[in-house]
Amino acid sequence: MKLRVLLAEDSVSDAKLVTHVIERAGHEVVLLRVDTAADMAAALASESWDVVISDWSMPSFGAIEALTTLKQSGLDIPFIIVSGTIGEETAVEAMRAGAQDFLLKDRLARLVPAIERELRERESRESERRAVEALRQSERRFARLAESGIVGIATADLAGHIVDANEAYLRLIGRTRADLDAGLTWAHVNPPELGWRDAITLECLRSTGVAGPWEQEILHRDGTRIPVLVGVAMLGANESISFIADLTERKRAESKLRESEAHLRQAQKLEAIGSLAGGVAHDFNNLLSVILSYSALGLEILPEDHPLRGDLGEIYRAGQRASDLTRQLLAFSRRQVLQPRLVDLGEAITAMSKMLRRLLGEDIELTLDLPPTLPKVKVDPGQFEQVVMNLAVNARDAMSTGGTLAIALADVMLDDRWVTDHVGAKAGRHVRLTVVDDGCGMDPATLSRIFEPFFTTKEVRGTGLGLSTVMGIVQQSGGTIWVSSRLGAGTTFEIHLPVANGDAAAVLPAEPTTDVGGTETILLVEDDPQVRTLARTILRRYGYHVLEAQSGGDAVLIGEKYAAEIALLLTDVVMPRVSGRELAERLSIARPSLRTLYMSGYTDDEVVRRGVLEADVAFLQKPFTAQTLARAVRDTLDAPPGAKTR
Ligand SMILES: Nc1ncnc2c1ncn2[C@@H]1O[C@H](COP(=O)(O)OP(=O)(O)OP(=O)(O)O)[C@@H](O)[C@H]1O
Ligand SMILES: [Mg+2]
Repeated sequence: MKLRVLLAEDSVSDAKLVTHVIERAGHEVVLLRVDTAADMAAALASESWDVVISDWSMPSFGAIEALTTLKQSGLDIPFIIVSGTIGEETAVEAMRAGAQDFLLKDRLARLVPAIERELRERESRESERRAVEALRQSERRFARLAESGIVGIATADLAGHIVDANEAYLRLIGRTRADLDAGLTWAHVNPPELGWRDAITLECLRSTGVAGPWEQEILHRDGTRIPVLVGVAMLGANESISFIADLTERKRAESKLRESEAHLRQAQKLEAIGSLAGGVAHDFNNLLSVILSYSALGLEILPEDHPLRGDLGEIYRAGQRASDLTRQLLAFSRRQVLQPRLVDLGEAITAMSKMLRRLLGEDIELTLDLPPTLPKVKVDPGQFEQVVMNLAVNARDAMSTGGTLAIALADVMLDDRWVTDHVGAKAGRHVRLTVVDDGCGMDPATLSRIFEPFFTTKEVRGTGLGLSTVMGIVQQSGGTIWVSSRLGAGTTFEIHLPVANGDAAAVLPAEPTTDVGGTETILLVEDDPQVRTLARTILRRYGYHVLEAQSGGDAVLIGEKYAAEIALLLTDVVMPRVSGRELAERLSIARPSLRTLYMSGYTDDEVVRRGVLEADVAFLQKPFTAQTLARAVRDTLDAPPGAKTR
């Protein structure tokens, strides 16, 4: 073994002697002799040593001083004193000061065994220190794990008494250390129906040392149930340790995901039904214009006592019912033409409140919570009224034995979190309309279908188009609708409509005129021959002079050839080559005072995309009757310049 020896000694020959003694015992020696405290400190600092051997007294240095120097260095190196003469007392003093051994120079045979012993002892001191350090490390690691708050940890005896627990565990079950001291057991934490599990867990622990992990619910002090993942392991012979991870967030996320998937599927289904319904309604509107108008004309012409009057009246009424249905279908398919204005919903609802109270009857109380200043939203006021009415009628039907209908408005900011949780919602400022009833509520199966057209649970009166219409209107206005309900626990509808971003106030429609006839010249453009003939017939009967075109191209030619004034362009919106709007623009170049009235049973793609027509565009929804056509024509002609023209 190679020994590195630092020797505090003034005598060179004594140093040689020490070297010799050690070498004779079979060790290789590296020896450095120092004889001042400064040299010794420098040697300790620059190299590593196995042992320090010091003479008791030297002229300028001594063993006690050498010991002090070693201590100051903080190193754990065995220190052995060698001396020529020394008394008992001095020896004791030296050992007290920290020397490991004391030898007389004439007994140097003991030196090597003493060094070897000291080295062994130092080695065992070292390994003990390493073990203690490792233990401390592991304790620190465990404490960090326990207090990280990520998992709840609890130890318990096998009888189920919880002995100790970390903060995360206590927080999860809403308990304190005082509860632990008072004797908390698994029975306080596990729901009663899980009692059967205890025996199985114990059995597992006894046979394999671990049990789980499994998912279960545990009881919070306030009785709420918390979904958790549990694993248990034996800790010694009579103690177990449980690890519990809170699954609340994960469960919440999972159920939100399931919910939004279900909503998405529902939305896709409704979208498909919507395109079908919209297509059917479109074609029906042209047919219904013809049926309604000719039966109305017939009724005007036939004398009072004519036998066919009754039949014709039936045709007219059936046509009107059909037209109501197609209007609702168009609303549902979001293809009706909305004429939005900037509306204060609070004012709109206040204006309806009398009618609502009458509609609800005496057994139902209506409460309104309408903040006085709300930002305006851009909706078609008539359609918004329709939304509130449909919801109110449904609520009334759900409260056959009376109850309360609460209608509230609020100015809300929808954030990103809301948007992720609600399919189709957009972030930003909205006005929220909440309609709450405490009626019969719905089971989940009913709830999942209420927006489908023709879905109804009302055997006698229901068409099942109420909520489909509501949804179509809300969506076409850029809003969203949400419903929550439980059987026997009432129903809440929540509608969010985006706040309008400072549009100029929309132009209000002109006052209706009573006299709907006139003598102006009207250019009528319509590609459906039946509808064109019908419109011409009606307009002529009301006194107008009618020029007819079956396409945009024809109309342009007429516009160029016709020398006198044309007061009004009455045109279909959707036509094969030139759209109604393009036609109006072209004709207005040569005839700046020309007014335009659009008609459609459908909205062209551009309008559908934007959802609406500009507020200052005059528009007539098909199917029309003689009266609605004449009224719209007169209103457009009489509107103040600048409004209702293009
Ligand atoms: N507030 C409510 N409480 C309980 N159930 C409701 C409520 N609103 C709607 N429903 C259920 O949704 C179904 C569909 O409603 P929707 O308004 O579309 O049609 P309807 O009321 O049955 O018929 P319609 O509105 O055409 O007269 C209803 O038949 C009813 O079962
Ligand atoms: Mg209804």
